[in-house]
Amino acid sequence: MKLYLDSADVTALTPLIRTGLFAGVTTNPLILRRAGLSQQDVGELVGSLTALGAAQVFVQTTGASVDRLVEEAREITSLGEHVVAKIPATRAGFAATRTLAGSGVPVLITAVYHARQALLARAAGAWGIAPYVGRMTDAGRGGLAQVAMMQRILHGSPTRVLAASIRSADVVCELAELDVHSVTISTAVADELFEDELTARAVEEFAAASRG
Ligand code: E4P
Repeated sequence: MKLYLDSADVTALTPLIRTGLFAGVTTNPLILRRAGLSQQDVGELVGSLTALGAAQVFVQTTGASVDRLVEEAREITSLGEHVVAKIPATRAGFAATRTLAGSGVPVLITAVYHARQALLARAAGAWGIAPYVGRMTDAGRGGLAQVAMMQRILHGSPTRVLAASIRSADVVCELAELDVHSVTISTAVADELFEDELTARAVEEFAAASRG
């Protein structure tokens, strides 16, 4: 399973990207705003993240019409071959994705909340889908079960699942057990992956013993 970081906070991202364990960075307008950025800052942000070593960067469209979404996605992916456009799972979003896929532009369909949207993403030739696992569970839709169904729907297709809205390291493990292709996680959940009190205690014992 590939691990992505869901943030535009370059300061928080830097130490994590430098571990070399994360495949890239995902963003959206909410993520940008939380980092004090706007859509106008996207070009500079992509440059900063690429310089840091992010192998892939995902940037979300903001338009509503098919034509505008196609135009924005082309602008976004013109920032680099490693840049993927994110388009919300709307009727226009699926139609725009079909057009873009026809000319080789990679699109991650985002804000996915139901398995039927995986069907449409597969038909549209999307690069992937981003189901919002935590929000689905909050809404009583059973996030993990829905993602398992999406996995089965997408089996044999190039469209992959990049699960989002991940609330803990435990959920990352549960998704890995489902053989989900990728997850994108906050820097806080990413830090949680590295922490274990029993390991820390054992390391302290090793250090004490080595000081003899
Ligand atoms: C993904 O692109 C979103 O930033 C993420 O799923 C939101 O997660 P949240 O449900 O914790 O806000």
